[in-house]
Amino acid sequence: MDFSFTEEQLMIQDVARRIAREKIAPSAEHFDRTGEFPLENIRLLGENGLMGIEVPLEYGGAGMDPIAYVLAMIEVAAGDAAHSTIMSVNNSLFCSGILKNGTEAQKQKYVRAIAEGSAIGAFALTEPQSGSDATAMRCRAVRQTDGSFIINGKKSWITSGPVAKYIVLFAMSEPEKGSRGITAFMIDTGRPGFHRGKTEPKLGIRASATCEIEFADYVVQPDEVLGKEGDGFKTAMSVLDTGRIGIASQAVGLARAAYEATLAYVKERKAFGQPIGAFQMTQAKIADMKCKLDAATLLTLRAAWLKGQGQRFTTEASMAKLTASEAAMWIAHQAVQIHAGMGYSKEMPLERYFRDAKITEIYEGTSEIQRLVIARNETGIR
Ligand code: CAA
Repeated sequence: MDFSFTEEQLMIQDVARRIAREKIAPSAEHFDRTGEFPLENIRLLGENGLMGIEVPLEYGGAGMDPIAYVLAMIEVAAGDAAHSTIMSVNNSLFCSGILKNGTEAQKQKYVRAIAEGSAIGAFALTEPQSGSDATAMRCRAVRQTDGSFIINGKKSWITSGPVAKYIVLFAMSEPEKGSRGITAFMIDTGRPGFHRGKTEPKLGIRASATCEIEFADYVVQPDEVLGKEGDGFKTAMSVLDTGRIGIASQAVGLARAAYEATLAYVKERKAFGQPIGAFQMTQAKIADMKCKLDAATLLTLRAAWLKGQGQRFTTEASMAKLTASEAAMWIAHQAVQIHAGMGYSKEMPLERYFRDAKITEIYEGTSEIQRLVIARNETGIR
């Protein structure tokens, strides 16, 4: 077993760390407060290869491995979680599914635009009445005699929905077949029949724009079907396996930022004549924060390593996402507690970490869904 990173992995980590420290972290408070989309920062990430880290060079990406992706995501998330949400959706949810299931023309058109940072992508699975139970979707795709499809329906909670140029959409093409009747489609948001609905006012990751989208007789051409008809649910699930490594990395980055701020604070802040880090109750919190942070990091890297080896990593991705998101929530909570009044104040980023951490336990499969996936795969009982 080798815990060291390659030169290439360290290089992308360094690029991400530099952008996160110089551009993202200093502007995070502004974007959180205003809810503006950080377009310039996202372009900069794209220009530096961070929107298509695992995308091969021939499709405009950085051609690196899943470990490199994890390292870069951690750095960006440590600068600001909302930026890493946008990065994660572009890399994992958008590019990975097209790379795995798309035609050569689809890869050249859609993956290249997102990997080069000239456009933003989104992933539309969730609907107002179907979140965890993804097969309960109502969005319909009706096949026409010429092989095209007409799409009607609504999708909700679409990350980057307000700004996305292209969207990977999942819709029911043969409802009587249940999960085997779902098909994936490529959507161009500039075409007739595509509409954006209300933008969600959110607790955290406020700079990552989220909205409802609606399709009214939107026409998908035969060459815009992604993968085989009826294979959409499996595509969504395998893309989410990859996505969960991204969210685990995001949670690790956010948790690290909260932990590092706390570590510095307990050495400086004095009470009863000594640094608060000298008190055993603080020391216990620091020790538990460090253990949870490292456990989450190692599980995330293991899932990425398995992916890089071409092995199945569904369970490991869920374990990483579950552990990292719960660690991030717990660490951010303790960080606010240790900083006390300063932790609760908007003058420091702790309260933002606390608000941002919560989403990692919800999107790309709630903690309950991760436990279900892990237990089903462990027991073999469905
Ligand atoms: N990879 C490939 N195929 C998979 C798979 C995987 N990881 N998981 C399941 N499948 C296949 C199964 O093998 C099965 O195939 P067959 O039909 O050939 O038997 C098929 O998919 C159906 O599987 P299940 O019977 O297990 O499906 P289910 O209805 O019981 O659902 C679930 C399983 C785990 C609960 C799933 O619905 C799930 O993960 N739900 C959570 C959805 C989710 O994560 N949503 C997040 C929205 S996206 C988001 O948050 C993005 C964002 O904004 C950042």
